[in-house]
Amino acid sequence: MNVHNTHSADASTVEEALAADNHNVVDSEGATALAMQNTLLTPRFYTTDFEELDAINVEPVREDWDHLIAQMKADPNKGHFKKNADWDTVDWDGMEPTLKREFIDFLISSCTAEFSGCVLYKEMKRRGSNKDVTELFQLMARDEARHAGFINDALREAGIAVNLGFLTQKKKYTYFRPKFIYYATYLSEKIGYARYITIFRHLEKHPEKRFHPIFKWFEEWCNDEFSHGEAFALLMKTDPELTETWQNKLWIKFFLTAVFGTMYVRDHQRPAFHDALGVDVDWYGQEVFRKTSDLSAQIFPMMLDIDHPKWLPTLKRLQKANADLAVAEKKTGLARMLGKASGTTRAAAAFVTLFMIPVVKSTPPENVRMEPSY
Ligand SMILES: [Fe+2]
Ligand SMILES: [Fe+2]
Repeated sequence: MNVHNTHSADASTVEEALAADNHNVVDSEGATALAMQNTLLTPRFYTTDFEELDAINVEPVREDWDHLIAQMKADPNKGHFKKNADWDTVDWDGMEPTLKREFIDFLISSCTAEFSGCVLYKEMKRRGSNKDVTELFQLMARDEARHAGFINDALREAGIAVNLGFLTQKKKYTYFRPKFIYYATYLSEKIGYARYITIFRHLEKHPEKRFHPIFKWFEEWCNDEFSHGEAFALLMKTDPELTETWQNKLWIKFFLTAVFGTMYVRDHQRPAFHDALGVDVDWYGQEVFRKTSDLSAQIFPMMLDIDHPKWLPTLKRLQKANADLAVAEKKTGLARMLGKASGTTRAAAAFVTLFMIPVVKSTPPENVRMEPSY
């Protein structure tokens, strides 16, 4: 049996993908250090109660489940995530320095997020004995390993790479109960889809703004994330309590607010990157929130009111508080202490204001399954 793959894109399993040559990269300390960071804004690694997860019974959604698994097993994206003739030469040395810094930051953070999914899914597959659950997580881990490997290919051209093996062992893991994993991971898959497809469609109209070839891969890429989101929607569908009790509705609102707020703040840290793409960050944010809201109404009984008069102004305050916080971090003594206290208080107040905006109630359809349509 041929178990040695030279590229993660051609691998059939997560194990093969992780053993591929493009994963065994030379460490570059700066990139790995960045990926190691655990702040509110950086991608984290998660762990959960695997036994509880293993006890899921997918019988109530069997038909949709089997259909989705069959699609994923057919593996339409096998071989896709590697450079080919479409990969134009990248002039890293000629790239404007601020853009280069922000773009590398974007790639490192995307790679960490992809790999975070890979690690969690792989662990679920390893610890589980429920055939349905382990099969799904094996397939999703395979996809995320390819995605992370491909971003590392792009980084390597700039002389950088994230040491994924090191991250697996050394990065701190955050524990989430399974239901929080469903909410958070479901949302991150769907918002990931919305982000990739929005950039892809924008660059289809403005190809002159495509300053790096990786964006050409975003369409197939986002279809993987779409399927992963579908899987979590089905998992949640097996237990109506997850989306119907008032406590869980509050949790859903909390996760929606946190995920949207984090994206807004993070994207505003990369003005040069969005300028280069010709994307207005506020437009982009709202566009992605709208798509994610529409999609997540497939399972969540509410949408955030992103057109509420307080929504954007409060997001701006949240972002300003975070920017001030970052400035304060670099100071010393009393200025640092006061700056941090002020930034934290204002960020918390902004978050509470966002959370208090009334939601738009919705009724999820009987049939949960959707196809990518943007
Ligand atoms: Fe991914
Ligand atoms: Fe994914």
